[in-house]
Amino acid sequence: MKLSIVGSGYVGTTIAACFADLGHDVVNVDIDEDIVDSINAGVAPIHEPGLDELVEQYAGNRLRATTDYDEILDTDATFLALPTPSNEDGSIGLGAMNAAAESLGETLSKKDGYHLVVTKSTVIPTTTEEVIAPRIEAASGKTVGEEFDIGMNPEFLREGTAVEDFLDPDKIVLGANTDRAHETLDAIFDPLVQRADDPAVIKTGIREAEMIKYANNAFLASKISLANDLANICKEFGVDSYEVLEAIGLDSRIGSAFLAAGLGWGGSCFPKDTAAIIAAARSRGYEPRLLQAAVDVNDQQPHRMLELLGDRFDPRGKRVAVLGLSFKPGTDDIRESRAIPLIDALLDAGADVVGYDPVAVESMREKFPSIEYTTTAADALAGADAALVATDWDEFAALDDEFDEMREPIVIDGRRIVTRRDGIDYESLV
Ligand code: UGA
Repeated sequence: MKLSIVGSGYVGTTIAACFADLGHDVVNVDIDEDIVDSINAGVAPIHEPGLDELVEQYAGNRLRATTDYDEILDTDATFLALPTPSNEDGSIGLGAMNAAAESLGETLSKKDGYHLVVTKSTVIPTTTEEVIAPRIEAASGKTVGEEFDIGMNPEFLREGTAVEDFLDPDKIVLGANTDRAHETLDAIFDPLVQRADDPAVIKTGIREAEMIKYANNAFLASKISLANDLANICKEFGVDSYEVLEAIGLDSRIGSAFLAAGLGWGGSCFPKDTAAIIAAARSRGYEPRLLQAAVDVNDQQPHRMLELLGDRFDPRGKRVAVLGLSFKPGTDDIRESRAIPLIDALLDAGADVVGYDPVAVESMREKFPSIEYTTTAADALAGADAALVATDWDEFAALDDEFDEMREPIVIDGRRIVTRRDGIDYESLV
């Protein structure tokens, strides 16, 4: 089929390249000329394992990029994969989605045949039907359910394993307003269903599809926060939280994934999506107590780490190394990284912070230009009075003699990654 993807961020670029790999003819539409040039030159505009290879393989044949919305006219369906960032109050920001819906509507006013518009971005239930579709109708002069249909297909890929996750999903969620739209979605996803390892295909309504995405992320974020809450209790009683969590994960009703306790969850999705669904619930008069508690536990973990440091010494004037700056290993993305509130708290306490990360130093330098950064973990540790581990990069598990160069070999580990040995004053956050 001929598909257009509006937006070339993590999700848009990944799905464009993967749809091309599935045999579709794909055009990626973005307002950023640098991104468009990069894709057309066969170079992925973001770093994702496996993505460069796909973009290189398909650019110029089944995959191309453009700034011209008119190229959508020759496609059967358009996926809207634009950012939905948080507003000040945590509610969802729809500026980019609305602008894209209007541009798409203007374009579709010139189309003769049927078109399907699919929301890929994470949006609050009712947004596709009540915000996006009316904008397309107003700009195109067409009626939803007649000349065009709408659908919602949430994405569950993770940064760092995006291509793999897209091409081998647990489930494919297809929300649509008509049978015709469902049939079109089936035709788009059939090559993926055929190729992947037996994914469940959930055919549902549009607002159910929208909510499935929030419920999925809210559940996972809450699962981690519950693990952290339990792990904090373990810590108070001198109980090994990792042994406890490993044991409960064996109960098939609980499952072992997303039970890694520690400094908490960051990234571009969990914090934004939990905030957005909490704000949306409140706007309808419902107070989501458990979700708010999940956020509160998450906010508290970096401060608990500071308390553990404070039990050793007053951080004022002390050199404190922060190992790991990205929100998780395998990425240079620092959005909502737990290292940020940690560094903030250290600076508030008057510490001299030295940061190290294998790939995220330059991103963090923009956020905290005045702290010191090093190019190796060894340099960050040399002369440090303590080390706080914020991200579970594998290389931190291999650190050994490097700790001997610290002024005081105090290691407080927020991710249970450092290998314990004699000579290190080691304490796990949980
Ligand atoms: C998350 C979801 O896992 C994806 O399914 C979803 O598609 C995506 O959000 C999205 O909405 O776009 P992502 O943010 O890339 O993916 O990262 P995760 O691997 O889920 O990690 C999120 C955070 O949770 C990280 O800070 C990680 O360190 C933390 N985490 C994860 C834990 O603290 N403990 C765990 O056991 C697992």
